[in-house]
Amino acid sequence: MTPALPAALAGLLRSAKRVAALTGAGISAESGVPTFRDAQTGLWARYRPEELATPEAFLRDPKLVWEWYEWRRGIVGKARPNPGHVALAEMERHIPHFTLITQNVDGLHREAGSRRVLELHGNIRRTKCFDENLVVESWPDTGEVPPRCPRCGGLLRPDVVWFGEMLPEADLTAAVEAAENCEVFLCVGTSAVVEPAASLPFYALRAGATVVEVNPGKTPLTGRASYSLRGAAGELLPALVAAAWKH
Ligand code: APR
Repeated sequence: MTPALPAALAGLLRSAKRVAALTGAGISAESGVPTFRDAQTGLWARYRPEELATPEAFLRDPKLVWEWYEWRRGIVGKARPNPGHVALAEMERHIPHFTLITQNVDGLHREAGSRRVLELHGNIRRTKCFDENLVVESWPDTGEVPPRCPRCGGLLRPDVVWFGEMLPEADLTAAVEAAENCEVFLCVGTSAVVEPAASLPFYALRAGATVVEVNPGKTPLTGRASYSLRGAAGELLPALVAAAWKH
């Protein structure tokens, strides 16, 4: 059943020229990728992500951190985009200037067909050299964990942004620009607590945009959003697309 959505919001989306969307782990939950803060199960249950996703943790125990990412890559590798991802890819085709900003590293937005995606926290499917900070496409399998950079012999690591690291500057600048210049800002499946992404919906609010939250739970944004749609992204986003363009 299609959830009831505010008619004014559908009209606003239909006529909007500039729309930005920020997504977090919640949008991939329905694809079977556990959200960041729920992710620790099985062998990894005794570690907190904040203790593994840092450069210090990697330098202390590179094998442990590499193996944790191998486990996460296994989950992501089996995941397929869900109707929430697909709905955002469809929105991009309807709206003249649509910017998708994601904190997710799973690559599912592109797989769903989104073209312009700012991956603020990198991509778990890419690997880079810890020392050179450059992407590495392939490396000889010597059995070492983590493997070594074929250029300089440095340790290889996932090309994701760890706690305490800088975000890709050009992507962050483009994300802020999109937030400050959009008519509608969608904030989907994020706990809206990790900076700097957490500030983006507030920049949009300050600039006068209509801010729409899509989340089954409450976040620091809930009380401030113009619309707070409480439910799963996989149901609400397709319903929003249907209400705006398929009636
Ligand atoms: N649809 C929409 N939202 C959902 C769904 C769903 N089906 N299921 C869960 N959520 C919501 C939760 O209510 C929660 O608010 O998704 C949010 C997930 O929050 P987090 O796990 O904190 O993920 P996220 O906000 O993406 O974390 C931000 O923190 O640790 C860093 O780099 C990591 O990118 C991550 C960042």
